[in-house]
Amino acid sequence: MTLNINSLGNNYNLLINSISTPRKAFTASNVQTGISDTFTPASELNPYLSESAIRQMILMNPQVVKILKNNGLKAEINIKELQKLAEGHLLWTKNIAAGIIGNLPSDIQKQINRQAVLQAAIFHDFGKVLIQNKIINKKSALNDKEKQIMNLHSELGYELLKTQKLSPETLELIKYHHQTPENTGYPINNTGFTYGLEAEILAVADKYSALIEKRSYKPALSKKEALEIIKQDYPQGGLVYDALVNYAGI
Ligand SMILES: [Fe+2]
Repeated sequence: MTLNINSLGNNYNLLINSISTPRKAFTASNVQTGISDTFTPASELNPYLSESAIRQMILMNPQVVKILKNNGLKAEINIKELQKLAEGHLLWTKNIAAGIIGNLPSDIQKQINRQAVLQAAIFHDFGKVLIQNKIINKKSALNDKEKQIMNLHSELGYELLKTQKLSPETLELIKYHHQTPENTGYPINNTGFTYGLEAEILAVADKYSALIEKRSYKPALSKKEALEIIKQDYPQGGLVYDALVNYAGI
């Protein structure tokens, strides 16, 4: 199985980085997505949704500033983006991941670290709180430098959150949520990260969520259209894909 999270090319970066969801948007009745479920608010993020909380987290781990400095950046806190993510993409990714897990065969479900997947889903793009708005919400394709900065978000999220009460498994999923089964992607994996079922569920939930969300440059795809795109990664089908199809109810 080849999971090609980047199969949408440059647009995928835009797809996963541009959320235009209004606040208090927790149900399908008031957001424009292909999702028809009622979602549980992402209350796990509440303690972090202020500039002072993020500033405190930066102070707790000097590695954050070091990464920014190495890339010619200052610690600019984009709290509005984090708030949008909290009520949109992160929330949906968590609920879709839960849906996928719930539709896996029961013996497989027992093997999954459900807590780590769901916690990672809700925090996976947390590092975007340190990515400037002009990059996050750029309507055209990112240039190489901008891409390099955008790609810092998984590592920045990991470093910001490693001083918080998250499990090592959750933190690892956050850091490597843009890794592929072929060990490509970012950041470069030098720590023995193994791409397991948990990482696959998170990647598929992330991608499906991004596809069915409305973005500034594209409408929300229907569930059917989104599944057709994800199917390209699963020409022979697969456990996680089949569970997503069941969850989507198509
Ligand atoms: Fe991401």
